[in-house]
Amino acid sequence: MTTGDNDRPIPGGQTVMVEFEDGIAWVTLNRPEKRNAMNPAMNQEMLEVVDALEFDDRCDVLVLTGAGDSFAAGMDLREYFRETDGSPEKFARFRRVAEEWQWRKLRDYAKPTIAMVNGWCFGGAFTPLCACDLAIAADEAVFGVSEINWGIIPAGNVTKALATLMGHRDALYYIMTGDTFTGKEARAMGVVNKSVPLAQLKEETRALAKKLQEKGPHVLHTAKVAFKHIDTMDWDTAAEWLKGKSAELRTGDKEGIRNRALTAFLDKKEFRPGLGTFDRDSD
Ligand code: COA
Repeated sequence: MTTGDNDRPIPGGQTVMVEFEDGIAWVTLNRPEKRNAMNPAMNQEMLEVVDALEFDDRCDVLVLTGAGDSFAAGMDLREYFRETDGSPEKFARFRRVAEEWQWRKLRDYAKPTIAMVNGWCFGGAFTPLCACDLAIAADEAVFGVSEINWGIIPAGNVTKALATLMGHRDALYYIMTGDTFTGKEARAMGVVNKSVPLAQLKEETRALAKKLQEKGPHVLHTAKVAFKHIDTMDWDTAAEWLKGKSAELRTGDKEGIRNRALTAFLDKKEFRPGLGTFDRDSD
């Protein structure tokens, strides 16, 4: 951990770097010499970073990316796999830490999250990619579900991530062949929201983060959690559950955006959602 503005500690500093910029926390996986392969030390540090940023007011939006020419080359094949062969308890401990940040925490994270895929994205990297709410890739990025080449299956919830992000045929094709695909192809399959030339990637991501910063944080969080949990429910259960979430939002939304936005539209005629964003700081 290093010291930042006003002597407030900045989490990370070793295998993960954090930089704050006007409410955006740029979180960078930082083992470029190993293509940001996620080793146990990085997973431990990422867990601490996401824990710290979740309730840090310098972070309105978390952006996850990688140093150098990689997003992440998956789990570390040496430290996570080979060096735990014959030590199931050690492996189980490492796996628990990895799972904790890669999807358990990120999936329902209090802050909106964007994966910025700047380069290589393999295997285990699909789990945090999917757990992030939104994703933007460089056209030039290369994705691969390479597990088949290592004699393993895409575990660590990679298969679940693929089933969430891809259609049936595409997911099975890449799981079974280990072929790679580009950022542009990832966009065409819906794996990411957008792909842009690498030179524009950071600016596009910043613009998206700023758009999210304009929304009410409480309603944004409730909306994404509602969506992420709804697909395992039938229509009746979903309707009841959404009723509960809506009620929870009405009591928990300290900003009162609903009433103020309705007044601005219906009475004051100041705001039309089709023509712009409601200024949540307005009276
Ligand atoms: N685990 C452990 N080490 C890894 C790694 C991984 N997943 N991915 C890359 N590295 C290491 C390499 O062993 C190499 O280490 P070294 O310098 O000590 O020899 C270093 O990172 C650079 O890798 P290299 O292959 O030389 O880089 P490259 O730019 O030519 O190729 C990749 C980049 C990502 C295409 C290639 O490294 C690769 O295929 N990695 C494996 C990806 C994978 O299958 N991940 C899924 C794991 S389930």
